[in-house]
Amino acid sequence: MSNMLRQPAALPERPAAGWPPAARALLLHALCVPPAWMLAGGDGTAWWLAAESLLAAGGGLLLGLAPWWLPINLLFVPALALALAADLHPGWAPGAFVLLLLCYWGVGRTQVPLFFSADAAVHALPGLLPETPRPRLIDLGCGNGKVIARLAAVRGDGSFDGIEYAPLPWLAAWLRCLPHGGRCSLRWGDFWTADLSGYDLAYAYLSPVPMARLWRKVLAEMRPGTLLVSNSFAVPGVAPEAVIELGEARAGRLYVYRIPGTREQR
Ligand SMILES: C[S@@+](CC[C@H](N)C(=O)[O-])C[C@H]1O[C@@H](n2cnc3c(N)ncnc32)[C@H](O)[C@@H]1O
Repeated sequence: MSNMLRQPAALPERPAAGWPPAARALLLHALCVPPAWMLAGGDGTAWWLAAESLLAAGGGLLLGLAPWWLPINLLFVPALALALAADLHPGWAPGAFVLLLLCYWGVGRTQVPLFFSADAAVHALPGLLPETPRPRLIDLGCGNGKVIARLAAVRGDGSFDGIEYAPLPWLAAWLRCLPHGGRCSLRWGDFWTADLSGYDLAYAYLSPVPMARLWRKVLAEMRPGTLLVSNSFAVPGVAPEAVIELGEARAGRLYVYRIPGTREQR
């Protein structure tokens, strides 16, 4: 694999300042209610719901919300209406809210939702680990621990660490890693505070938002020759050393970046 790395042009330190997407989405829905009511002629809940959904979905795109907000904006108010119509026990709403909070803890700040690597991604990773004994990999935002637990099962001499911010996925990852003893270690916390200097490979499956900042972090901390592997999301302005197409439908691709050898190359 040839070294095609280049320095990204002045990258923003953090995502653009302003209201978090969830707050923008809520405000958008509130603003869509009166025009939806007028469009539906104050007549018929179904028309009103359809108008509100379409206005909010379109408005979300105009406001620059990420693509995954499209289905959320389309379904948010109809789902609320369904729940009200179903006359559910009042405990369901706070229960569901707490459950979502435990799964998506901090998503407003991190801009990284919870979803899991496809099997094809996990199968490709052992081939990227160094053949030297005891390779060390860290999954930055390890979700339910699928990646590190599977790798620990196939590469018995390796050490596979995960950091996860959201409590419920962290708990699932902890349980999943129990059978692998010392080969897997879990931390509940923020990977921006982790020291990456000891790792041969840092794996990330995040979102477009943190990639530029993550690249700066790995350049500052990881050793020359080690790898950052990002599932689906490229580092803006940096050519990967390799791109691995995962083949399976919706499995995406792995962007492989090698940490350059000298400060000047960084
Ligand atoms: C898309 S999921 C990927 C899960 C897992 N790595 C996988 O590939 O199956 C991203 C995870 O990163 C976590 N996350 C996002 N930002 C984080 C941060 N700063 N520190 C720790 N975890 C974070 C989210 O809570 C989420 O569970």
